[in-house]
Amino acid sequence: MASMLRFDGRVVLVTGAGGGLGRAYALAFAERGASVVVNDLGGDFTGVGKSSFAADKVVEEIRRKGGKAVANYDTVEEGEKIVKTALDAFGRIDIVINNAGILRDRSFSRISDGDWDIIQRVHLRGSFLVTRAAWDHMKKQNFGRIIMTSSASGIYGNFGQANYCAAKLGLLGLSNCLAVEGKKNNIHCNTIAPAAGSRMTQTILPEDLLEALKPDYVAPLVLWLCHESCEENGGLFEVGAGWIGKLRWERSLGALVRQKTQPMTPEAVKANWTKICDFDNATKPRSIQESIGSIVEALNKINSGEGVSANQTSHAASAAPSGFAGAIGHKLPPSYASYAELDTIMYALGVGASVKEPKDMKFIYEGSSDFSCLPTFGVILAQKSVMGGGLAEIPGLSINLAKILHGEQYLELYKPIPRAGKLRCEPLVVDIMDKGSGLVLLLDVYSYSEEELICYNQFSIFVVGSGGFGGKRTSDKAKAAVAVPDRPPDAVLTDATSLNQAALYRLSGDWNPLHIDPNFASLAGFDKPILHGLCTFGFSARHVLQQFADNDVSRFKAIKVRFAKPVYPGQTLQTEMWKEGNRIHFQTKSELVFPPPSHTLYKVQETGDIVISNAYVDLVPVSAVSAKTPSEGSGLQSTLVFKEIGRRLQDIGQEVVKKVGAVFEWHITKGENPAAKWTIDLKTGSGKVYQGPAKGSADVTITLSDDDFMEVVLGKLDPQKAFFSGRLKARGNILLSQKLQMILKDYAKL
Ligand code: NAI
Repeated sequence: MASMLRFDGRVVLVTGAGGGLGRAYALAFAERGASVVVNDLGGDFTGVGKSSFAADKVVEEIRRKGGKAVANYDTVEEGEKIVKTALDAFGRIDIVINNAGILRDRSFSRISDGDWDIIQRVHLRGSFLVTRAAWDHMKKQNFGRIIMTSSASGIYGNFGQANYCAAKLGLLGLSNCLAVEGKKNNIHCNTIAPAAGSRMTQTILPEDLLEALKPDYVAPLVLWLCHESCEENGGLFEVGAGWIGKLRWERSLGALVRQKTQPMTPEAVKANWTKICDFDNATKPRSIQESIGSIVEALNKINSGEGVSANQTSHAASAAPSGFAGAIGHKLPPSYASYAELDTIMYALGVGASVKEPKDMKFIYEGSSDFSCLPTFGVILAQKSVMGGGLAEIPGLSINLAKILHGEQYLELYKPIPRAGKLRCEPLVVDIMDKGSGLVLLLDVYSYSEEELICYNQFSIFVVGSGGFGGKRTSDKAKAAVAVPDRPPDAVLTDATSLNQAALYRLSGDWNPLHIDPNFASLAGFDKPILHGLCTFGFSARHVLQQFADNDVSRFKAIKVRFAKPVYPGQTLQTEMWKEGNRIHFQTKSELVFPPPSHTLYKVQETGDIVISNAYVDLVPVSAVSAKTPSEGSGLQSTLVFKEIGRRLQDIGQEVVKKVGAVFEWHITKGENPAAKWTIDLKTGSGKVYQGPAKGSADVTITLSDDDFMEVVLGKLDPQKAFFSGRLKARGNILLSQKLQMILKDYAKL
């Protein structure tokens, strides 16, 4: 166990120790062996009046517990007298806790001279006077520990406390200086910004919080900072409720806005403002030497002719053009995207799939026999690898993440996205283009399931304000957007987005507050949160798939879009489509239609904004799909079992029909995809087994993989357990599936 921190032989002076935080410090120091001067003027919390009562009570409390303490009733403006009390009573002064304080809260225009002055006098001048009185004694004994009491109000600003904020941050300045001056004499000075329930905060904090934030949860920090073994000096700490955090300064890399031979202008400051305020790669200077060091370095750069042109635009991504050579070909760390059926369903709902459209059920109900993942989910999986922080780490390129826009997107599938799984996504910087007003970063992401390539994405990321570096405007690596044909569209589908669309879509993993938080949106220059571009993208791709591929995901080959304008949740999206062979060109418009038509197919001459432009979907020709699909049931182990059950039923069918009396439809999957359908009819005649869905209706529909089917048949997997673990899905009269064990065990002996 760590040894107990003791203060035997130390003399501690705590100002304002008659109540609140000061009392807690005084008691804690005394308990650990210190001799304590309990100072308190004993007035009210606005600084009016005086009394010996408060200090006396605390002294009495300490003495009752066997501790050593004396009282002092002077105001902190009588620093010498208070320190004299310590010297007279205990012969020395080791530790000073500047804690006394009052409030005179007023909005700025109503602060009187008196309100201003008394706050400065008690907090700032009082701390100065008490500390100065102790300082030389500390220097002589080569030991001293000092605490200044600041406040979050001073650090961050608070309405109605201009006088208090000024004084409280003044204390930090005083502490910073004493930390520097006292260091060589082993005098350490630190500052705390406490949060505690006291008479000072009782009108501000709710009662339960007042109770919960005990001064006892602040005192241990003060004791540690004042212990002889503590090396901390010049620190600033926020403390309350048992939590302690340290604060420090952060400085942006800044910008040179002057050239040697030219005057410095406000225009140059304006032009470089983004860079001046950009905290990416910020430094954390800790001393005035480090501060001046940067200024001297800047001066040297300017004198050697490195100053920037006053007309130069700011660079959200900075690097000399030659520096990009290191960026191209850079591999970002791979990411792993695990997803379950829940995620694919949530995504489908996020991009507007709905129970209103029966053909959408396959995207939103895992029990659907042809349950499928929407092809555009392939972007979501890859996006995590792009947004995972790797962008900030590209060598030779410093990107301000607040300045990036999603410009274009390309996605190509090599097979349908599995309904659940784990993909490894490997991103790679393939090129960088200079578009004048910005830079375009081309990122290719390859997504694998184990070693099998499932899809390929190309993200075009636009970094605002980083162009103009003399780079190339185009790239042969870019998947080009293609203009739509110059004729009326062949089909138009519309869908109303809901007011909750972005709130729902973001659950698929794009948590940018721009899409949900009105304050954040207004900071980014929007009236309200905007819909994710990739949500609109999902709506449009779904429209194409529905219109030209009958929602068959195996026909989806590739998609390319350019994001043109933002959409607000609640707006209606209208996808205009042109069929040119297997390429479906499209563009998407947003309209504010009220009440919005929902999912109606119609052709109109509308006037909405184009939000996705120059886009297309490439479909796999129907002939290629059917050639690729093995004839149903071929290569499946379950096929043999169904056939065997069919054979046996010929002998004992009637008996089983009597016992069971139900039709079972089977959906067998292979590698997450539908592979075969079988029906075991144990209801009519003497029973029948045939390939395909039930003729008529099934009582139970059971979906499971070919492998699990075999496990069940071989008695290795209990169907009920498989149901509860999600490996077996049953729809309809689920109770009937309990009879499965019997059928399969008895009639499927191979
Ligand atoms: P408190 O009002 O309970 O304690 C302040 C004590 O200082 C009182 O006992 C008062 O009589 C004494 N005092 C006032 N003027 C004096 C003077 N001129 N000379 C000697 N004693 C004097 O308030 P609390 O909350 O314990 O505050 C302690 C310190 O912590 C203050 O400096 C306050 O500004 C600071 N603080 C407190 C926070 C909190 O959440 N309680 C938040 C931020 C800062």
